[in-house]
Amino acid sequence: MRFTLRLSAIVLSAVVLVNAAGPIPKKEFEKNKALGLRLLNIELGKYVWRTEFEKFDVMRTNKGFFDVTDVYDPEEDDFKPALVKGEMGVTAVSAFPSGPTRQNVIQPVINTLAIANLQTYVANLTSFNNRYYRSQTGAQASQWILDTVNSIAALNPSVGATGAFFNNTFVQPSIIATIPGKTNGPITILGAHMDSVNQANPTNGRAPGADDDASGSADLLETFRALVVAGFKPSTPVEFHWYAGEEGGLLGSQAIAQSYKRAGKQVKAMLQLDMTAYTKPGTKEVVAFLPDYIDSTLNTFLESLVDEYLSIPWAISPACGYACSDHASWNRQGFPSSMPFETPFGTDNPQIHTTGDTTTVNGFSWTHMLEYAKLGVAYAYELAA
Ligand SMILES: *[C@@H]1O[C@H](CO)[C@@H](O)[C@H](O)[C@H]1NC(C)=O
Ligand SMILES: *[C@@H]1O[C@H](CO)[C@@H](O)[C@H](O)[C@H]1NC(C)=O
Repeated sequence: MRFTLRLSAIVLSAVVLVNAAGPIPKKEFEKNKALGLRLLNIELGKYVWRTEFEKFDVMRTNKGFFDVTDVYDPEEDDFKPALVKGEMGVTAVSAFPSGPTRQNVIQPVINTLAIANLQTYVANLTSFNNRYYRSQTGAQASQWILDTVNSIAALNPSVGATGAFFNNTFVQPSIIATIPGKTNGPITILGAHMDSVNQANPTNGRAPGADDDASGSADLLETFRALVVAGFKPSTPVEFHWYAGEEGGLLGSQAIAQSYKRAGKQVKAMLQLDMTAYTKPGTKEVVAFLPDYIDSTLNTFLESLVDEYLSIPWAISPACGYACSDHASWNRQGFPSSMPFETPFGTDNPQIHTTGDTTTVNGFSWTHMLEYAKLGVAYAYELAA
């Protein structure tokens, strides 16, 4: 998750450097990039240049942003959000099934999901000092995820599941696991971000990131494990993405979404899980769908899956805002994406981006996290089988 409402003390305008209205001329772009500056897109059509160090100040505000330095192409105009309609970026680009149809095969797979596995995955992910995208421990965390994906794939080789790095311009690669289909597309994607940050001390500070976002990362591993062990051989491919550098401005997801768009890959849907473990004590436990920068028909489909397969109800969250998590990178490229969040935005985990984002936070719940793995299994099966 890019930010939290409680950490809004520093206002963006306190950071000084040239502001620019996009698109950025090629000369300016290349000169500033060569100087090591980062180009941040902080709202539709609004760009600012910042040093890497100043980017930490922007991270500490309550404003989401895309760091577009690695994906911006001043000569191509593919950078404008293709299908975004209106301020909220809500699309309705695809027809999804009107509701679930495969209860007989999906429920037995859901029954194999195990909290003990989520606990092992989160314990491993939080054991790194941090998973910062420019740190060696952040790179080691990527290697751990790839190794774990490969050992899960080996549990049932007949499925033909594979794992691979998607390399970045910084040390931390993203990871893609694939369950192949009978055809090459369209692809059904589940995403989470594997990096973590201590916003008081990004490079060296302790950042367990148990909720943000070891929780979503563990849900993806457990969803992948359950489907592989069940011998899931879908008609169309299912991919699991663990994005690097989300906290640095949605870096890993932007690189992959842009590369898929340019390669002409078809994407059926993208489901982002970023923070799935926390419910504020005293409030009602729900799956809270973000209403902005998502595809509304995908939300409606996912709501029907919650009704059928989960033990808790859904709700619509208040808006999360611009560039709030990796689903926004897919929305920006015109692919249908959604994000079911741990709780209505604004009542989410107060400890994120600190040393205190651990599994012992009051309100952290393994059973709550498990609900999102159930949703992952149902989503993959209903869309791709
Ligand atoms: C990490 O996962 C392995 C299984 O892959 C487990 O044996 C080990 O105990 C875990 N490490 C931690 C720190 O939990
Ligand atoms: C990513 O980088 C690693 C290490 O530098 C390299 O071994 C691997 O081949 C690269 N993967 C891709 C897909 O380029």
